Amino acid sequence: WEWIADIYSKYHTFYFDGLKYTVLLGVVSIIFGVLLGVLVALLRLSRIAPLRWIAVAYIDFLRSTPAIVQVSLIYFGGTQLFPTIPDMLGLPSVFFYGVIALSINSSAYVAEIMRAGILSVDKGQMEAARSLGMPHGLAMRNIILPQAVKNIIPALGNEFVVVVKETAVVSTIGVGELMYKAGVIRGITFRGLEPYIIVMIFYFVVVFTLSKLVGLLERRMRASD
Ligand code: ARG
Repeated sequence: WEWIADIYSKYHTFYFDGLKYTVLLGVVSIIFGVLLGVLVALLRLSRIAPLRWIAVAYIDFLRSTPAIVQVSLIYFGGTQLFPTIPDMLGLPSVFFYGVIALSINSSAYVAEIMRAGILSVDKGQMEAARSLGMPHGLAMRNIILPQAVKNIIPALGNEFVVVVKETAVVSTIGVGELMYKAGVIRGITFRGLEPYIIVMIFYFVVVFTLSKLVGLLERRMRASD
């Protein structure tokens, strides 16, 4: 315990620096993940079969390969093929590779969340709207989607929590987030135990709090049924 207290008191600024990146990565990645995911979901539900196939292939591929491999391919492959993304907004270029990889990864899950949310609305709703003469698109926007959001919003909240936790994989390409910082402190102190116990607690506090907040939101949305 003395070691933990000692390492924490010497290096807590490292952890809080890392935490900033972890949170920023999570927030920016989920935003782009949702934008991309909506696009993929639209393709997935399109009436044009080849567009649907592309979306299915995209989703299946991303969900059937490890996130760490996707991150590595995008960063190491990306920097080999293209001129490196410049540092921007005071953030290192590797941060943007991390965001791109995490957003693409998340978009596959987001697309499925959207699809599941839409399919969760009883098909009688669409039938009733159509039989009243509503065109498909209008019924989708005015009848189906408003009911689907109740399922979609909490699921997206969960996805956000998952993405925050998943940011740890971009430590492998050198983004200075929490997990990376734990490795740095391990290198400085030659201690394998305490730096990771501390980082574990950081993740736990953040992720547990976020998931409780999502749970709260979930109950709120159900209350309005
Ligand atoms: N741990 C999974 C993997 O290594 C990625 C999970 C990402 N999940 C998500 N909902 N974004 O492939």
